Amino acid sequence: MQLAQRILQIPPSATLALNAKANHLKAQGVDIVNFGVGEPDFDTPENIREAAIRAIHEGHTRYTPVGGTPEFKEAISRRFQEDYGLTYKPTEILVSCGGKHGLYNLFQVLFEEGDEVLIPAPFWVSYPPMVMLADATPVVVPTRQENGFKLTAQELKERITPKTKALILNSPSNPTGMVYSRKELEALGQVVLEKGIYVVSDDIYDKILFDGEKFVNLAMLSPELKARIFILNGLSKTYAMTGWRIGYLLGPDAAIKAATNLQSQSTSNPSSISQKAGVEALNGSQDAVKSMVAEFAWRRDDILRRTLEIPGVTCPKPGGAFYLFPNFSAYYGKLKVKEGQTPSQALAEYLLEEARVAAVPGNEFGEDNCLRFSYATSRERIATGVTRIKEALEKLEK
Ligand SMILES: Cc1ncc(COP(=O)(O)O)c(C=O)c1O
Repeated sequence: MQLAQRILQIPPSATLALNAKANHLKAQGVDIVNFGVGEPDFDTPENIREAAIRAIHEGHTRYTPVGGTPEFKEAISRRFQEDYGLTYKPTEILVSCGGKHGLYNLFQVLFEEGDEVLIPAPFWVSYPPMVMLADATPVVVPTRQENGFKLTAQELKERITPKTKALILNSPSNPTGMVYSRKELEALGQVVLEKGIYVVSDDIYDKILFDGEKFVNLAMLSPELKARIFILNGLSKTYAMTGWRIGYLLGPDAAIKAATNLQSQSTSNPSSISQKAGVEALNGSQDAVKSMVAEFAWRRDDILRRTLEIPGVTCPKPGGAFYLFPNFSAYYGKLKVKEGQTPSQALAEYLLEEARVAAVPGNEFGEDNCLRFSYATSRERIATGVTRIKEALEKLEK
């Protein structure tokens, strides 16, 4: 069949593919430790589940306004005001079917052929394909491990051309867990204003932050910057609601209006029931979030300590999200790398077969020296998984 060129250039999601392979082995009875998944291992908090059940019984089962119910937008608006001192009107908010959908809508209305979009590496796997689906050009900007895999103002400046339309920033980061400080953002913000580009601030992990850090994004720095920033957030990670498919985009109203129009001709509104649950998530008790974050913080310490005990492995300490991005390049010389494979792919394959641990190869995130471990799994599985990896790597030495 002759398919459209647009889709032929797009690879399927690598993280979902690895998950499928791990699940296939699991179904055959193989005991796999899965460090591959990008979703919290907790259930959605009970007060939120109850709100959804109530919504069904109360008949909230019909179409809602395309861009989200006034009640849910109000809840989003209040959270941003209270938590970050940011004011967003309903016309500056679009609720979509997950954060991914929000980004897709934004890219479709903001980018076109000839535009360059800067993507610091390591990056979340979906950014480059989504930029390409909008006919624009993803420009990958490597960052350095010594800088905690964070983009510096100088690196940003060097990559901006007259074609640069936007920069995508993601803090806390998937896959590194790194968090930009206010000072680092101020330096980047200055370049953003000087050069007049837009920024897509993917803040989906904003609440999963450790060590008492306070979240900050570019929009919080000045009104001039806020006018150039699009914030992407959602319920998936903070409230363990990946299956409910609710994300929201905040930004200047002309783009939000256009993205709402696009959504009106594609998916229409996100689920009415999920939006009702979202009102409870944002307005109700945040205790469940606090306990999930405390558990992630414990696991971060544990998996980092265990991983750094493996000889030759280096890794910056993540400040948020639930990922670790250790550098395994010390082992690459000892690996059998098949034709067409990168070393991180060969290592991920070796670990799946030899250690029965699923981890995502770094090349998928634009950094081949590393693997991504998700620690959204139990304390016991973390201990088992890292021990198995250590033993499998010892075998390589022989
Ligand atoms: C960095 C980042 N942005 C956005 C998303 C989208 O999340 P969702 O579409 O599940 O709301 C994810 C999910 O993995 C992510 O890791």
